[in-house]
Amino acid sequence: MSRIFEALQRADMDRRKVQENGPEAALGSEITKAVELEEAPAVEDGSLAEAEIDLSKIARHEWAPSAAALPTLADRGAAVEQFRSLRTGIYQRRYETPMKVVLVSSGMPGEGKSFIAANLALSLARNSVNNILLIDGDLRRATLHELLGAPNVPGLSEYILGSAGLMDVMQRRLISKSTEVGGERGLSNLTFIPAGLCGDNSSELVSHKRVEDLISRLAPHFDWIIIDSPPVLAVTDAVDLARAADAVLLVARGASTPFDVAQRAQAAFSNSRILGFVLNAVKDAPRSGSYSYYYGNNQGDGELSTRKGARRQA
Ligand SMILES: Nc1ncnc2c1ncn2[C@@H]1O[C@H](COP(=O)(O)OP(=O)(O)OP(=O)(O)O)[C@@H](O)[C@H]1O
Ligand SMILES: [Mg+2]
Repeated sequence: MSRIFEALQRADMDRRKVQENGPEAALGSEITKAVELEEAPAVEDGSLAEAEIDLSKIARHEWAPSAAALPTLADRGAAVEQFRSLRTGIYQRRYETPMKVVLVSSGMPGEGKSFIAANLALSLARNSVNNILLIDGDLRRATLHELLGAPNVPGLSEYILGSAGLMDVMQRRLISKSTEVGGERGLSNLTFIPAGLCGDNSSELVSHKRVEDLISRLAPHFDWIIIDSPPVLAVTDAVDLARAADAVLLVARGASTPFDVAQRAQAAFSNSRILGFVLNAVKDAPRSGSYSYYYGNNQGDGELSTRKGARRQA
């Protein structure tokens, strides 16, 4: 029996416990949100003449990052260490096969995709040699701009629609004496593309070839590109986004994600390279050979661990 299978089964058992014993059995349990599928109008090709990409000319904004949602901003601590382990695991996978663009996804809402995407990007950005791009690919329920305390417009939607160019949608943090302290220095290596405002046609937008164009034009300028996405079992957006990514990192949430949901999420990305599962916010994840993460805040304690393989018979 593979470790990932054991880990996911344990998460499934936790979930059943919560169902039997009530929500107090859950750690940091969250209300999830239904995502609607709607018919969307066709998108025209953008017609803006593109400015040359020059990272030194990216607009800077006053970000107000949330320390609670971004524990990797701290100078040190368990979160910093555990995301460093996750980062190391991903570096190792890059030695095996080159990759730069990682899509973070999961089966259901609320499993921690945005939390993992943002903190992984920051952890990578703490390494000063890295130039990191974080993209909010969840056009339906954009949250990364809230975690960073950054403007959400213009963003990916405006770029795809052709009303903004590449240089318009990228943003970095305005550096001042008060911001350039401690672990927050990771933010200075981070470039962010928010989701923007897309209305109801997100499926149409993310399947547009301009997403792949955007990635291929920006990839030479960054060491890593991390893309957040909506839940893959609710809408097709994440599968479309995965076409522009080199690999997919899946998230499952302890005491919440049913085992079959994790399996179906993995199956949905059958055409992509899957890096493994991050088992997020569980109390007793198996440790041997894993990268584990304990994170405590006022919602309770959580643990995150990553598994290299995701196959039942691995
Ligand atoms: N390990 C963790 N410990 C504590 N809180 C967590 C953890 N992981 C996620 N959360 C919190 O759980 C909530 C849901 O997480 P998040 O928004 O990242 O999920 P999501 O998968 O992106 O959801 P959606 O599919 O709706 O976009 C957020 O409030 C987040 O801060
Ligand atoms: Mg999210």
